[in-house]
Amino acid sequence: MKTILSTFVCFAFFQTGFAINTVALKEPDSVFLFAYNSPENISRDGLHFAWSRDKKNWFPIGDDFSFVRSDYGRWGKEKRMMSPFLIPGHDGQWHCVWALNKEENLFAHASSVDLVRWGRQSYPAIQQGQTFADPVVQYDHKTNLYTITYIGAGKKYFEITTLDFKSYSSAREISPDQYHNPTISITLSLGEFRGQIYRVAWSVVAQLNTNYETVQYKQALHGERTQQDNQRFAGLKDIDATFTVNNSEVKPISDLLVGVFFEDINYAADGGLYAELIQNRDFEYDLDDKERRDATWHSKHSWKLSGSEISFSVDTINPVHANNRHYAVVVTRKPGGALVNTGYNGIPIKAGARYDFSFFAKRFTSKSISLLIRLVDKNNVVIAQEKITVSASEWKNVKTVLTATASADDAHLELQPLSAGSLAIDVVSLFPQQTFKGRKNGLRADLAQSIADLHPRFIRFPGGCVAHGDGLDNLYRWKKTIGPIESRKPQRNLWGYHQTAGLGYFEYFQYCEDIGAIPLPVIAAGVPCQNSATGGGGQQGGIPMNEMDEFVQDIFDLIEYANGDIKTTWGKLRAAAGHPKPFNLKYIGIGNEDLISDVFEERFEMIFNAVKQKYPEITVIGTVGPAHEGTDYEEGWTLANNLGVPMVDEHYYESPGWFIYNQDYYDKYDRSKSKVYLGEYASHLPGRSSNVETALSEALYLTALERNGDVVSMTSYAPLLAKEGNTQWNPNLIYFNNQEVKPTVGYFVQKLFGLNAGTEYLPTVISLSSKANAVTKRVGISVVRDSKSRDLILKMVNLLPVQVHSTFELKDIGIATTSAVVTVLQGDPTDEKARPVESLCTVSEKFTSVLPPYSFTVIRLKTK
Ligand code: AHR
Repeated sequence: MKTILSTFVCFAFFQTGFAINTVALKEPDSVFLFAYNSPENISRDGLHFAWSRDKKNWFPIGDDFSFVRSDYGRWGKEKRMMSPFLIPGHDGQWHCVWALNKEENLFAHASSVDLVRWGRQSYPAIQQGQTFADPVVQYDHKTNLYTITYIGAGKKYFEITTLDFKSYSSAREISPDQYHNPTISITLSLGEFRGQIYRVAWSVVAQLNTNYETVQYKQALHGERTQQDNQRFAGLKDIDATFTVNNSEVKPISDLLVGVFFEDINYAADGGLYAELIQNRDFEYDLDDKERRDATWHSKHSWKLSGSEISFSVDTINPVHANNRHYAVVVTRKPGGALVNTGYNGIPIKAGARYDFSFFAKRFTSKSISLLIRLVDKNNVVIAQEKITVSASEWKNVKTVLTATASADDAHLELQPLSAGSLAIDVVSLFPQQTFKGRKNGLRADLAQSIADLHPRFIRFPGGCVAHGDGLDNLYRWKKTIGPIESRKPQRNLWGYHQTAGLGYFEYFQYCEDIGAIPLPVIAAGVPCQNSATGGGGQQGGIPMNEMDEFVQDIFDLIEYANGDIKTTWGKLRAAAGHPKPFNLKYIGIGNEDLISDVFEERFEMIFNAVKQKYPEITVIGTVGPAHEGTDYEEGWTLANNLGVPMVDEHYYESPGWFIYNQDYYDKYDRSKSKVYLGEYASHLPGRSSNVETALSEALYLTALERNGDVVSMTSYAPLLAKEGNTQWNPNLIYFNNQEVKPTVGYFVQKLFGLNAGTEYLPTVISLSSKANAVTKRVGISVVRDSKSRDLILKMVNLLPVQVHSTFELKDIGIATTSAVVTVLQGDPTDEKARPVESLCTVSEKFTSVLPPYSFTVIRLKTK
């Protein structure tokens, strides 16, 4: 105990040396700081602080404000910080050690110089005690060792030591009287809390207070919503604006700025973009896909029988392919019954359309078995029918084409054996022949077209979290998604359903080429999602380093598959799939908003260096966490700077207010460092609707992204697709059901930016008749020129409830027309159905136009 207290006093003086220099005229030189955790019923766990001059009157720094939270475990409530123990280290850092939960043989550590900014978290394993509770950390000046004592399973006591919180001694059992916990209880306004007390320089507390107040201030600003506009802008009259475009300081900007983010979330792939109409075609659905929470989600899901003289079971002996173990064994006692597939909530069929049917089958009876393959509508009317025969006693692919005589929204497929006997069937497939561009194993035409209409410059795939998966076994492995569909390896989708891998790497590459977008695959950095349920060695885990060479080789092979000559091993496979020409892969993302841990760093660095050396022409995109600030963002950027990563992937989902008030986010970026791929972003309102308010805040931000198109190379709204009734995430850019595609207002913003991209940015001076911050932040403009067409494109956003009477000054730009196309997207902020409207306007070197309230306007005109 004595040792601990003397450490505290020393640290108080040490702290003054590196804390922010606040001039303490009236404040005390030092105060007591209480570091505590709030019980679960009060808030999510985290480290909180209160200060006191006399240890009697305590002042919490925010009643319920955490300065650091645990990032171990699955999303939400599983991320526990139990009994955190804070200690000032001899290295000028505060160290915090906490227990993760009652079961784990792991604990957590993080450190901070100022208690505000915290470094990466680590989750070391303990060798003894099985569980870890109530840690106490002490520092011994003589040995420079920190000792962590804790209570293990069976109320036994243990200690481990460390010099640096990186490597630890193995645990040693100690007697109960060697465990002294100085944690005390203090009563604050919200209740009684347990923690440790230190004497610190006032400047430490001042900095904590400043941080808390800044966060509160920003939260209020970012919480601004259009629903308060009546009060906020009460009495505001129409605004006058002059936009003076400068043609002399033009800067080149990225020609890849707007692309799309595709992830198999919300049934975006199976049941969505992938045109397959049969659900669970391979009988591979598994209770584990939904973590055994849905008893109906098994290998017979979406299949049923009609008739009493037919039965079916699922077997795994001698399957079509080792990657696809389950198949159906259908036994017919008397013909008349059928095995039925109900599709993805029904099978949509169009009159006159042709459908490719195929399955793998083998007969178990001595004679061939013929089957009627029928599409039947909900009134039991047969709308397509063909007969096929299974004559082989070994697996064979059998095919036919069905032509529909009528349309149906929710038909089903019947496989009706025409004689008694038994047969095995697997990979039952029904594809419209009219896929996007008529590709076999292709994409649903209307959905693929709606994405193509965005004119995306790139497609990121296959995620998002799907790319790094839920635990090591769930990493998305590209090699398992190519080749004949029966050989692909289906797996659990971490969004709680099933991935057939029917839409695999070949199909992604093909689609990119078909719509003129460059491919941007994202590969796991050798670690799964930090929010995984499984993983080992912490929830993030990591591929064992002795297996990493193989993982790196997989990435090399992917590059060869995409770009290699057809004489190469993988190039040959691409050619065999029908694409001898290379796919021209230039970018690869490594990692997806991962926790930037030691485990991550080691693997990322290895992959990055290996790819850079072998394929210097490939741009590797790193990752900097799931937010625009915080530990992973800072650690990710530090790593990128250290390694010289050419581009990093940033992700943030924020409120409209955040986007309004952070238009200068990239203006502050150092142009000599990594370029940015803003790989996931969207404006989120409470309730997660997608409307004019969210869309205009995104449009406003996109004008700032164009202005920063010299450092921001690519952007993609996320997520892209969502099937109604099957969403795990909202909002999304495009909703759909089996019949319809339903783009959101935000879709049209993306489309207008996609169709009106430029290669040069022309700075514009904005002069508004109102100088109020709330007003000026809600009017934005971006002027770009497309160097090929010489078209000049003006994009203006007015997020105010009043008109903006605008004068455009376009001197020395060489306008070559008097008429321009103007496109306006406007509506009430809550409108979810607003659509752009095109008209013509008169233009000249100086012309006027009115920006309607809550609108996004694009004017496109010819220049010389
Ligand atoms: O876009 C949805 C999810 O958001 C992505 O899978 C993940 O990367 C992010 O957390």
